[in-house]
Amino acid sequence: MERKKLNLTSIIKLYEAGERISMLTAYDYPSAAIADTGGIEIILIGDSLGMVVNGYKNTLPVTVEEIVYHTKAVVRAVEYSFVVADMPFLSYQTGIHDAIYNAGRLLKEGGAEAVKLEGGSNMVEIIKAIVNADIPVMGHIGLTPQSIHRMGGYKVQGRDEKSYNALIRDALSVQEAGAFAIVLEGIPGALGKEITSKLHIPTIGIGAGKDVNGQVLVFHDLLGLGGNRQPTFVKQYAQLKDIAVNAIQQYVKDVKEGMFPGMEHTYK
Ligand code: KIV
Repeated sequence: MERKKLNLTSIIKLYEAGERISMLTAYDYPSAAIADTGGIEIILIGDSLGMVVNGYKNTLPVTVEEIVYHTKAVVRAVEYSFVVADMPFLSYQTGIHDAIYNAGRLLKEGGAEAVKLEGGSNMVEIIKAIVNADIPVMGHIGLTPQSIHRMGGYKVQGRDEKSYNALIRDALSVQEAGAFAIVLEGIPGALGKEITSKLHIPTIGIGAGKDVNGQVLVFHDLLGLGGNRQPTFVKQYAQLKDIAVNAIQQYVKDVKEGMFPGMEHTYK
């Protein structure tokens, strides 16, 4: 079936039609091709690539160059999905000029169609400036991994009344600043629901319950390609790491025993 490439307008139309939006990270050509063929509506080149692809302890070391490099690979594979690239730590917090310039690089060099950045009321001027440069922005509040040291670890946010209300204000500020959508990460389901009811832009949850407008997961978590410990919010739809390790063990055995290559793999 012929599939038409999704763009910002089509994503907003999905929201307006009350359809839940599917979003998944991808970081390279094969993962993007799998996500795109699988019908994912938004592909995110997340700065989670620092951990799941490059083995860093957290997302802080990720650079604009790395996001550009991975975005280029993703874009080459995409025929259907809308592509959003993450703004890594220190690529926008340092001021409006840096924020516009680095967001622009993700579109100009990487080929992304929008950028995502973390933060609430504190990021209003930055979001406004990027949007004014005609670069669509997706917000991201709640458990924001770039704030790991302030939060004292990856902890669910908005559990007490003060932070619950602050997150509602953050979501409204991000919307007011011009973001076209917002990721809600690691917050109680009731808060995800309340924020979603107050906004007129799509909310995409990851650990924010079911009463949001869409869901996002990390590619390696969904497919069981990462470590064994998974956060509560992850649903693993396959366990590909075990399948891959078994296949490689079989290959090693075949090489040792002279079972590979066979005649069918040998040129005449
Ligand atoms: O970097 C990332 O993968 C993300 C998603 C988890 C939302 O920000």
